[in-house]
Amino acid sequence: MEAVERVLRSGRYILGEEVEAFEQEVAQRLDVEHALGVSSGTDALLVSLMALELGPGDEVITTAFSFVSTVECILRVGATPVFVDVDPATFNLDVAHVARAVSSRTRAVIPVHLFGHPVDVPRLRQQVGPEVAIVEDAAQAFGATQPNGKGDCAVGTLGNLGCFSFFPTKNLGGFGDGGLVVTSDAALASKLRSLRSHGAGEEKFLSVALGGNFRLDALQAALLRVRLGALGPSLERRRQIANGYGLAFAASGLVASDLVSPPRIGPGHGCNQYVVRVPGSVRADLQGYLHGRGIASAVYYPRGLHEQPMVRRLVPDLPELPHTEKACSEVLALPMHSRMGQGDVHLVVEAVQAFFDGRGP
Ligand SMILES: Cc1ncc(COP(=O)(O)O)c(C=O)c1O
Repeated sequence: MEAVERVLRSGRYILGEEVEAFEQEVAQRLDVEHALGVSSGTDALLVSLMALELGPGDEVITTAFSFVSTVECILRVGATPVFVDVDPATFNLDVAHVARAVSSRTRAVIPVHLFGHPVDVPRLRQQVGPEVAIVEDAAQAFGATQPNGKGDCAVGTLGNLGCFSFFPTKNLGGFGDGGLVVTSDAALASKLRSLRSHGAGEEKFLSVALGGNFRLDALQAALLRVRLGALGPSLERRRQIANGYGLAFAASGLVASDLVSPPRIGPGHGCNQYVVRVPGSVRADLQGYLHGRGIASAVYYPRGLHEQPMVRRLVPDLPELPHTEKACSEVLALPMHSRMGQGDVHLVVEAVQAFFDGRGP
């Protein structure tokens, strides 16, 4: 409330000191040179591709197992998405298949650190070479890390540009829409700064590039500063919840009988969502059963981006992506947030167990 009052009294509601202070604090937290607050995670991706000057004829390699924003930004700049199937063990784009998707038109690749699971960006760099820009979609992965020779680095800082979302359910959740672009490239940072304010030049009302309004509000920045200060314990709690689920599922026998496959939670996982696989034939019934016991669950995502009507209309040659399609039919996100306790974890796992027990052999 103090932060809100400070902004209301300041009379400066867009960008300004509060956003600059947030940008400095978040850059320090991620250990990156430049951080720019923007209007949403979607706009973070869009303005990044605009800064790279991507357009018609350019190809961008990405995953089809993601939120629609990932492909939306590619199509909005007029470029063509090239989908690579996922690694079934991680749900992330299979880095081993990326080299085969690179062509003379490839200008960028967008790895998505889905659910908080870090993509191996240094390995991805080896696959695509130095000329292809890596734009990390880290919307779901604030706080996730990836080893990179010199130790653990925050995801989002390993590629040319990193994009975050502050949608309220994200690890660093705001009180409305908000996003962030990070980069260590000073020229890209200055271009992004201009593009987020209508391609502004040095003088007032001078527009030097085709940009837009991608600015972050001061109120969001002030509230995000408060949340950022308390992020350590909340990330730690998410990790404890994820590990608690893993142990409880292993003890339940559901894993051994292949009814539930929990995710692998490595040391750098951001634990934004806890997503298991269950047999596709029972998923809807299981969701209904959990709902009846007051337990929320969700399907991220029921269809691949290559199967979205909008994408099918705009992209002529779409591949078959068997691992993506199988994931779409089997994934189920269980409750995951920093205010849960281990007792809640056991309630959820017991309910899943009761569902399968009730179905008989
Ligand atoms: C993987 C991914 N990319 C991009 C976005 C877009 O973020 P926003 O909702 O802040 O526009 C989201 C979030 O919703 C997301 O999950």
